[in-house]
Amino acid sequence: MSRIAIDGGQLNVVQQGTGKPLLLVHGFPLDHQMWQGQLDGLSRKFRVIAPDLRGFGQSSEASGPLAMSRLADDLASLLDRLEIVQPVAVAGLSMGGYVALEFWNRHAGRLSHLILCDTRAEADSEHVAQTRFQTAEDVLAAGASSLVEAMVPKLFSLETQRQRPELVLATEQVMRLTNPETIAAALRGMAGRLDATSWLCRIQVPTLVLCGEDDVISSVDEMKAMAHGIPGSTFVPIPAAGHLAPLENPKRVNEAFQRFLTA
Ligand code: MLT
Repeated sequence: MSRIAIDGGQLNVVQQGTGKPLLLVHGFPLDHQMWQGQLDGLSRKFRVIAPDLRGFGQSSEASGPLAMSRLADDLASLLDRLEIVQPVAVAGLSMGGYVALEFWNRHAGRLSHLILCDTRAEADSEHVAQTRFQTAEDVLAAGASSLVEAMVPKLFSLETQRQRPELVLATEQVMRLTNPETIAAALRGMAGRLDATSWLCRIQVPTLVLCGEDDVISSVDEMKAMAHGIPGSTFVPIPAAGHLAPLENPKRVNEAFQRFLTA
């Protein structure tokens, strides 16, 4: 684990393995630990880099809204600091997928492969954005408990919730430890994100779209439509997994990553 200085703060970064760099971007409100199965399983072939985004995990606190563009620029700064000049593979889950799309938008030349997991290209509707603003206020006033309780059942498949309560609890713990200021800033950042739908047909890097078959946040149908919009992309459904497919079924996710990245 190391701490890397970026504009106005420090990112906590876990790196494992050598080889082609694979940068993993976590979802909301989580940290690098959601990628443990990929750090363990893919570092035999790749240099796996899993940062905590600004304000999350053990990275330093965030001030101001966490725009997806700002988080994407942080990743570019991180690559600069790590002296990685060759194009890298970037995988993002959900909010991490919004950041990965912004990374493509702003730093396409630094990208060799794009992996979009359980995410979407559309911006928030007015209603969803308003709900996020209200949730941000609630979290600042009363803490993250109600957000965490509402979110956790949607993150995992029913199977995972029944059979792996320890995984669910560990994830819940990460969410509860996230600073309310960061949660509010990220909610506002997501509410203001750009609609990436019109970008999809212009994505020219090889792209893998992956979705837990039981994802109730970003559905298989939505993800399939997203893959359909990206020329030449590959869509892989992940069985026995909900929204946090890489955490719930690392074996199938790692197989899909490896097949895609070594094709
Ligand atoms: C996530 O898992 O990162 C969130 O579900 C993203 C979102 O709230 O849009």
